[in-house]
Amino acid sequence: MRIALTGARGQLGRSLQQILRHEKVTPLSLPEGDVTDPAICDRLADLKPEVVLHAAAMTNVDGCELNPEAAYRVNALGTRNVALGARKAGADLLYVSTDYVFDGQTDTPYWEFDVPRPLSVYGKSKLAGEDFVRHLMDRYYIVRTAWVYGPGGKNFVEKVLSLASERPSLSMVATEFGSPTYTVHLAEALARLIRTRLYGTYHLTNTGLCSRYAFAQAILRLSGQPEYPLQASTSYPRPAPVPARAELRNFCAAEIGITLPPWEEGLEAYFQTREG
Ligand SMILES: NC(=O)c1ccc[n+]([C@@H]2O[C@H](COP(=O)([O-])OP(=O)(O)OC[C@H]3O[C@@H](n4cnc5c(N)ncnc54)[C@H](OP(=O)(O)O)[C@@H]3O)[C@@H](O)[C@H]2O)c1
Repeated sequence: MRIALTGARGQLGRSLQQILRHEKVTPLSLPEGDVTDPAICDRLADLKPEVVLHAAAMTNVDGCELNPEAAYRVNALGTRNVALGARKAGADLLYVSTDYVFDGQTDTPYWEFDVPRPLSVYGKSKLAGEDFVRHLMDRYYIVRTAWVYGPGGKNFVEKVLSLASERPSLSMVATEFGSPTYTVHLAEALARLIRTRLYGTYHLTNTGLCSRYAFAQAILRLSGQPEYPLQASTSYPRPAPVPARAELRNFCAAEIGITLPPWEEGLEAYFQTREG
């Protein structure tokens, strides 16, 4: 399968390259693979991929809040450019979206048929990207995921470990819940999904839900620091409003036999391969 991959140097991009190593993958990265440059459209068309995997995004949630123009330029208009390129190439498009398209104000999991209501600029700009995909493409997968971490990334796991090495104690919010998702498990699921041709919107996360505090506890335990002084807090002041509880029910993928393991297994697998 000929595949073009945006955001190839990102966390998910790296895992996708690894999982799809037997396919003909063309990795696109900054600066030549800048999705904000409309030239990406012809670049994609020239590659004649069968599938475009669009994993490039501005993922710094607080950075998006502070610089909305940049967020919409990359996440919304950049996705438009990629969709136009995929359309010109006659390719399927897979766009990776986020749990932050929901407000997280309910105690029940969100499934694919719930109406989004993003709180943050990041969530709004990713939803605008979804809208471009739906309007411009006939054959697309929109895959919402959450709390992504993987090899080579600047992610929550590495942030907790780095802070714990610098500070005598840490506090983490116990009031924000999500499903930590390991890029290798997600990439395996995406590799299966693009072969189904069952287009539409999917939720794909590792299963289960935890607070940031519980996630940090598990990270410290697996790194051999179970006694590290970690306190639970009720708030974490930051520029971007984030959903308090955005559990994504993976309904549509489960219907076609695509499921991910529990988040704890993802974290263990990450630690088994982690360097340093
Ligand atoms: N991280 C999460 O917790 C999370 C949660 C839910 C959904 N997602 C979604 O999952 C996807 C993959 O996320 P990730 O965690 O792998 O993110 P990541 O590690 O930040 O990777 C994103 C990649 O996009 C690249 N990029 C940024 N602006 C670009 C532009 N204008 N043109 C081309 N490439 C550009 C970045 O390049 P540089 O590294 O050079 O900046 C980076 O390599 C994204 O669509 C994200 O919105 C992520």
